Amino acid sequence: MAKAKKKVPARPKASAKPETRSNPKVSSDPKAGAKPEATSNPKAGAKPAAAGRDPAARAPELRELLERYNYRYHALDDPEVPDAEYDRLMLELRGIEAEHPQLVTPNSPTQRVGAAPVAAFGTVRHRIPMLSLDNAFSEEEVREFDRRIRERLEQERPVRYAAEPKLDGLAFSAVYENGEFTQGATRGDGETGEDVTLNLKTIAALPLKLRSADVPPLLEVRGEVFMPLAGFERFNKQALARGEKAYVNPRNAAAGSLRQLDPRMTASRPLDLFIYGTGYVEGGTLPTHHAQTLQLLRQWGFKICPQSKVVESIEGCLEYYHEMGAARSTLPYQIDGVVYKVDDLDVQRHLGFVSRAPRWAIAHKFPAEEALTTVREIEFQVGRTGALTPVARLEPVFVGGVTVSNATLHNMDELTRKDVRVGDTVVIRRAGDVIPEVVRVLPERRPVDGPALVELPAKCPVCGSPVVREGDQAIARCTGGRTCAAQRKEEIKHFASRRALDIQGLGDKLIDQLVERDWVRTPADLFGLEASRLATLDRFGEKSAQKLEVAIEAAKRTSLPRFLYALGIRDVGEATALGLAQYFGTVEALRAATAEEVQRVPDVGPVVARNVAAYFGDAENAEIVDRLLASGITWPALDKNAASGELTGKTFVLTGTLASLTRDAAQEAIALRGGKVSGSVSKKTHYVVAGTEAGSKLRKAEELGVEVLDEAAFLTLLKQ
Ligand code: IVH
Repeated sequence: MAKAKKKVPARPKASAKPETRSNPKVSSDPKAGAKPEATSNPKAGAKPAAAGRDPAARAPELRELLERYNYRYHALDDPEVPDAEYDRLMLELRGIEAEHPQLVTPNSPTQRVGAAPVAAFGTVRHRIPMLSLDNAFSEEEVREFDRRIRERLEQERPVRYAAEPKLDGLAFSAVYENGEFTQGATRGDGETGEDVTLNLKTIAALPLKLRSADVPPLLEVRGEVFMPLAGFERFNKQALARGEKAYVNPRNAAAGSLRQLDPRMTASRPLDLFIYGTGYVEGGTLPTHHAQTLQLLRQWGFKICPQSKVVESIEGCLEYYHEMGAARSTLPYQIDGVVYKVDDLDVQRHLGFVSRAPRWAIAHKFPAEEALTTVREIEFQVGRTGALTPVARLEPVFVGGVTVSNATLHNMDELTRKDVRVGDTVVIRRAGDVIPEVVRVLPERRPVDGPALVELPAKCPVCGSPVVREGDQAIARCTGGRTCAAQRKEEIKHFASRRALDIQGLGDKLIDQLVERDWVRTPADLFGLEASRLATLDRFGEKSAQKLEVAIEAAKRTSLPRFLYALGIRDVGEATALGLAQYFGTVEALRAATAEEVQRVPDVGPVVARNVAAYFGDAENAEIVDRLLASGITWPALDKNAASGELTGKTFVLTGTLASLTRDAAQEAIALRGGKVSGSVSKKTHYVVAGTEAGSKLRKAEELGVEVLDEAAFLTLLKQ
């Protein structure tokens, strides 16, 4: 869902930087308070400091302003005043309350700092039990859920559902009496939970006072407390630096933080929350549908998940599942699935519950990203630059939607830190398309007389050359260079890969065979391969051989940045390759450059510059480059004028699919002309290029009035 327009520069949310305004309880910059003129809104809060005014009148005025700004910031994601102004008002209120303690109210915004510790939590009996949800793991199960509902309702037509992310945190209940927050509780066993009122109060996203006179006199809302990913990572890093234990995952971190006996501890944690429904309500009237209720709750001051959506049928639910699955890795918080709820509350009541779960809702879970398995072996893989990576060979396990039998241990330092040994039971994580990794060992399951920690081999397991680890570097390398078959294979795999020369149909297994038969030693040998010879490879017919020959020929037409990237020079990624191409314009100019000259390229440091110069200075590399060029690899000459950039200073955001060029190609075209590509739309974006199925970025561009280019307009711009 598109975000509301921002009137002032966005400040970091709880997910980004909890120590600033998002946690108003944390002390603010005292200097900020000295600049009342910093306000951007002359109507609100611009009044001069308390001096001379009746504190009994000023205190409620300040509370109202602070609550309003807090609401705009957290619930609406649309800040109204700069942080400094908020801090100034908070300081003023603190001053009044310090001087006149009788004016302090329990729900004053100053009271979020965290009260004194308690010996134990009291218990709270939920007036309506807090239930859990049934889970579905497949589309069939979801369709079955919908079929059961329609059967019960004796209805053919589709059911309308509210679809929401399933937040991976801790459920809580919050009770408001006459609009004031009075009690907060954990779910507990569903019947009784723990009284965490003081802890919940410290979470800035929870309103302490509701923003309407029309709220039911007794209103219970329910939702999920969670720790946003950025906050989780930062918190863990700080905990480790202090020699404390890190939390295993954001959910544990949220649960551990909310259930602290000292509310000041909770106050120091970057917690956030969303409300996803109501509990017990007395008096007043609420809407007839769930989604409408959420909208009303939002108006009253609650923070509602912006990804919630109403869909017209179960098909819409399944579409939503895929949308959220794709968006999952970009969300600032962890979700473990989506929830579908019958939108009509009368229908919900009619459907009722079965044991501990409602019949009108279901959680459609994403494939688990973590799973347990055992380590069969630990081996060392040799990469393109000779780097030795310890890899755990695993008892195959289904995780993140695929069967995984290998997981990286990154390097010796990681292996030692995690203390992973053969026979260990380990947690494996595979998120999105990221390489599976070993997260941690379960020490309690370690076999009693299992083997010791694997040591770094002194010799390369592939070619037997010595392995060296320079200084205190984490990476150990095989010194064999191209005499090592593993390095040869990896060099060619990199050369042929999608972002390099993109040789279609030349997969890893094929490259292994080509190197093992010694038909190919270096990338230059690829261009001498003939279909007749290729056809003799294992499981390779004449047709595939011919196709591959054509693909190799086609790959000769490339671009200079791709060619430079494909060479596999150490530390030269795509961005550096592009920078080198733009700066030097030709491969000859780059080859002739000294390290000092290379270092003049923007963003190229001394190490990379030395690597580049060393690469071209090596006789074998020079011969390979000569042969590659002689084999007919070409690219359009870089127009120096174009390269220096008619799009200089322009920022683009790409969204949707373009018919005539890939996203990489579009990005390269923009960069070649001096422009920049950014991942998110802001007022500073110059153009949003919208292909088909453009999503929220297009809506955001329209909202912010950023110029939108369709594919044709974009291509025209590139030609200019
Ligand atoms: S509705 C009777 N909505 O999932 C309905 N729950 O397995 C109960 N959860 O305890 C909850 N996101 O902690 C609902 N959008 C969402 C949710 C959600 C996460 C959690 C909640 C609940 C558990 C049920």
